[in-house]
Amino acid sequence: MFRKTLSFDDVLLEPQYSDIVSRSDIDISLDIDTGRSMILPVFAAPMDTIMNAEMATVVYEAGARGVMHRYCTIEQQARVIKDIIAAGAEYEAFAAVGTTGDYMERAYELIRAGAAGICVDVAHGHHSLVKDAVGKLRMNFPAIHIMAGNVATKSGFDMLADAGATSIRVGVGGGSICSTRLQTGHGIPTFQSVLDCASSEFDALLVADGGIKSTGDMVKAFAAGADAVMVGSMLSGTPESPGDVISSDHDGSPVKVYRGMASPEAQIEWRGKYSSNEGVSRTVPLKESAAQVLFEIDKGIRSGLSYSGARTVRELHAKASFVIQTSAGAKESSTHIDS
Ligand code: IMP
Repeated sequence: MFRKTLSFDDVLLEPQYSDIVSRSDIDISLDIDTGRSMILPVFAAPMDTIMNAEMATVVYEAGARGVMHRYCTIEQQARVIKDIIAAGAEYEAFAAVGTTGDYMERAYELIRAGAAGICVDVAHGHHSLVKDAVGKLRMNFPAIHIMAGNVATKSGFDMLADAGATSIRVGVGGGSICSTRLQTGHGIPTFQSVLDCASSEFDALLVADGGIKSTGDMVKAFAAGADAVMVGSMLSGTPESPGDVISSDHDGSPVKVYRGMASPEAQIEWRGKYSSNEGVSRTVPLKESAAQVLFEIDKGIRSGLSYSGARTVRELHAKASFVIQTSAGAKESSTHIDS
């Protein structure tokens, strides 16, 4: 029979006894084998309406990391990495590559420019091309952090870990701007994928990616076994994100574009045509600064750990006690005052 899967909104964490008196007693840092630990285990997604040097810098200053997207020339992408390290000599950023064409040359140039890690960025990561690319990158760059993905299942996770990935992006079809499930009928709710992949014997880091819309979802992902999370929409619409502030067609309010990298709009802008249509382009309201968003994320995650009485992400995972909520429970769980 078909098995049932769970989404973030299907579950809640039971509050547990806590003796944590201050959020600063909680350590959510993550060693990522790059020389510097992440203080906030959050990655900004490799998307052209999220990542540029400015965003990468703000993200780094919050203790997180950005992954510079690959939808530009090698020179442009390497320039962004150099700009980030100019902003502060010890700053770290990751950079994405594909699996065909010039990807090895791109990786080489990005590492030469100072990238702290390379992300093999493919929608369907449980694929022979991704396995081969990760294997070749690992052979050529034995000490570099290699992030790879995306996968939805434990067998996909195991394959990439075995090929040499340091971290693996887990989540297929869950992104806020993603239409993969509509177009292809494939995917697994990201929360379920995290639960499944967390049972892997491999020790690659698990990065929950796609559909994370709140710090509550982040805390659920960590409790389910994620080591880090990746976000697009939560950083979209911030002044630091690439793109102009425009007026909404609807009411003239200030908005910015946020779009999937597999959307026709993104592909046409990058290479003049599109081959897949698995993403959408939308406008989102102009937000406060990305620095403020990241500050709130940091606070929210720490509060979340405190509700489970956990001082570290590892402790949260060990102690986590999930319940499944009904649709009435899910309604009660979001703000629901009548206006
Ligand atoms: P969000 O945080 O829910 O907005 O999801 C961001 C994630 O969506 C990214 O990290 C990618 O994994 C994924 N993504 C980006 N562009 C596309 C697309 O065009 N189609 C499907 N998924 C996408």
